[in-house]
Amino acid sequence: MEPASRDPRTRVLYDLAREFAAQLELGQLLPLITAKCREVLDAEGVAILLLDRERGDLYFPYYSQRDPEVGAKLAAQRVPIDRSFAGSVLKSARAERVDDLAGDPRHYRGVDRSTGVTTQSMLAAPLIARGEPMGVIEAINHLDGPFKDEDLSLLESLAEVIAIALSNADRFAQIQTSEQVLRRQVGALRSDLVKLDLEREIIGTSPAMAQVLSLIASAAASSIRVLIEGETGAGKELVARAIHRASNRAGGPFIAVNCAAFTETLLESELFGHRRGAFTGASSDEPGVFRAASGGVILLDEVGEMPSPMQAKLLRVLQEGEITPVGESRPQKVDVRVLSATNRGLRAAVEAKTFREDLYHRLAVFPIRVPPLRDRREDIPLLASRFLARYSQESGKRIGRIEADALDALVRFNWPGNVRQLQNEIERAVALAADGQSIACSHLWAAVAGSAEKIATRDAAGASPSLDDLEGQSQPLAQATAEFQRRYIASVLARTGGKVTQAAHLLGISRVALHKRIKQQTAG
Ligand SMILES: Nc1ncnc2c1ncn2[C@@H]1O[C@H](COP(=O)(O)OP(=O)(O)O)[C@@H](O)[C@H]1O
Ligand SMILES: [Mg+2]
Repeated sequence: MEPASRDPRTRVLYDLAREFAAQLELGQLLPLITAKCREVLDAEGVAILLLDRERGDLYFPYYSQRDPEVGAKLAAQRVPIDRSFAGSVLKSARAERVDDLAGDPRHYRGVDRSTGVTTQSMLAAPLIARGEPMGVIEAINHLDGPFKDEDLSLLESLAEVIAIALSNADRFAQIQTSEQVLRRQVGALRSDLVKLDLEREIIGTSPAMAQVLSLIASAAASSIRVLIEGETGAGKELVARAIHRASNRAGGPFIAVNCAAFTETLLESELFGHRRGAFTGASSDEPGVFRAASGGVILLDEVGEMPSPMQAKLLRVLQEGEITPVGESRPQKVDVRVLSATNRGLRAAVEAKTFREDLYHRLAVFPIRVPPLRDRREDIPLLASRFLARYSQESGKRIGRIEADALDALVRFNWPGNVRQLQNEIERAVALAADGQSIACSHLWAAVAGSAEKIATRDAAGASPSLDDLEGQSQPLAQATAEFQRRYIASVLARTGGKVTQAAHLLGISRVALHKRIKQQTAG
């Protein structure tokens, strides 16, 4: 049936029904509805005001105005609920018509002041879907005399369908976001499980690591922001995971983001998420890690590499506790704990003006320095033997131990790549060794194995292996003796693969006595 001959109102309703049926995006549909509505009501402007529950006011996401400049000004306006005509219609849930708004005490003059329009007459209908008030649709200033009662009825019936469309879109967006959030959480939890299995513990009994462990415990007990500093491979991420696991957010996700791995735009959307269509390639809404990690912990890894415009945005997020997804205008509250890590002196970056000082202070409230492996060589034997156990199990080879000179080499090497490099070295050695063999110098990388040769020749010449490090230092005899004992015990423990009973036997002291010494050393 061709409706063109009918009255213009029926025709408008027919057009709109067709648009609804075509399932256009809400973002396209609502401007169209407001435009059609203005046309058929012969009004100066029509606008949809939506309720912002968090702020408790109304804003103008969709409008159609005779003067387009007025529209642009509306977009920045907020309308209080308690002191406006629209607010009173929303609260009473009844459509209303006012012919002379100037005389109405509910009139909110703020909008008129900023748009330069004088609102005289107004129609307003509440947008209510499934019993939930969502906002108001209003028309102002009939261009030719006052509005009529039937104008109000038309607006009211439109309000009903708009409210349902809005509410459906809302629900759909919620479902989409929670699906995305769940997807990411499951992914993060899955990789957590794997990591948990492998890295249940932070290995290390050296005094330096004992201090790190106690700092982890303090950090986990509060929600303080922690900056973890240390060379690459030293165990920064492990420390961050340990804080998460020991904290009251352990039940929530842990997500690490490598800030150096993204371009500036991608980093922003990775962190804060984006709306579908916010930029080329943004084919669906994306929550971003701040929302995906809700209730949990984020590690901003290599935070020193963050581009400076992002630094400013991050600072604001930390100050306000809310994020604004790319392509959205309204911020959203987030509940995450932010940890960060850096492998270069962030202080120096602040001094060089490549890192914002205010951001530095926000992130580094509680700094934890993870010492490089060469400063805690006592930990090497135990680390090596754990890695050996892991990789021989994984490879299905029975490789029981590391020969003494190979272990000496491992302990003496400088490990620029720290624990990660040691781990890789053991993995490689296990791959090279045959089933039933033990790890010998020949299985080690030449540079590592080379560090043992010095000792071997000195041993042959009868020199003490540990003395050369102490040469050139002057310290009281007691201290030097203690240092020697500490190292000697570590090296015997290394030889026995961490087995205390066996080491005590070799040292000629009781197991209890050895335990006591290890404890003292760790505490010192
Ligand atoms: N103290 C430690 N005990 C056991 N494994 C460790 C330790 N420190 C580091 N690792 C391992 O070394 C690798 C590198 O650690 P990671 O935390 O990723 O270092 P970073 O983040 O400082 O580069 C990981 O596989 C980690 O499990
Ligand atoms: Mg790392």
